[in-house]
Amino acid sequence: MINNYDKIAKHYDSLSRLVFGKSQVAAQVNQLNNIKENSAILIVGGGTGWILEEIAKLHPSGLKITYVEISAQMLALSKTRNCGKNEFLFIHSSIEDFSLEDHFDIILTPFLFDNFSVERCRIVFQKLSYRLNKGGLWFLVDFTIQAKSGKWWKKLFLKVMYKFFGLISNVEANNLVDMLPYFNDANYKLIEERSYYGQFIKAMIYQK
Ligand SMILES: C[S@@+](CC[C@H](N)C(=O)[O-])C[C@H]1O[C@@H](n2cnc3c(N)ncnc32)[C@H](O)[C@@H]1O
Repeated sequence: MINNYDKIAKHYDSLSRLVFGKSQVAAQVNQLNNIKENSAILIVGGGTGWILEEIAKLHPSGLKITYVEISAQMLALSKTRNCGKNEFLFIHSSIEDFSLEDHFDIILTPFLFDNFSVERCRIVFQKLSYRLNKGGLWFLVDFTIQAKSGKWWKKLFLKVMYKFFGLISNVEANNLVDMLPYFNDANYKLIEERSYYGQFIKAMIYQK
């Protein structure tokens, strides 16, 4: 199966912290202050589920969270998290194959689109965008090489990462897809933008 992190699930968080320090975590945690109480939230590709505990620290109850993960191992780890009294729906599926029925106030896709081909990015963006309520927020966190400085090391870094995750997780992408045009074309408003790790990681909040 493509883009499946089963084989590396147990080591993923340690590896990510080893390579990126706290950057990947900070990029996601800093967005969580924008969650309002009693929100309906969709998380796609949440990995080991550490973010669920971070969300529960801010909102121990009242949230309704749908968590879609393609990796059974990642999902199993996520289910062991201490998530307070929030309501959960854990789904083992790729987001492409799962038929979403609800609409959401907030959608999180942390380091998801950088796994995808252009075609899959288009399909998933459209599917998720349709499910986000008007005025709802989309927390997008991904790598980027758009910044003017340090392009050479970012390109090299990406090449190594794509090679590694291509072998371990069968990641289909070997290039980053720029998601900006998708949000612009759908008239989203950028309400927050932060950069991490020498601007290699970008965390954006878009409002529909
Ligand atoms: C790069 S990891 C990021 C994990 C987590 N967001 C984090 O930052 O620690 C990408 C995650 O997305 C999941 N994933 C990849 N493709 C997916 C898809 N089509 N549908 C749902 N989950 C997917 C993988 O199994 C993996 O857990």
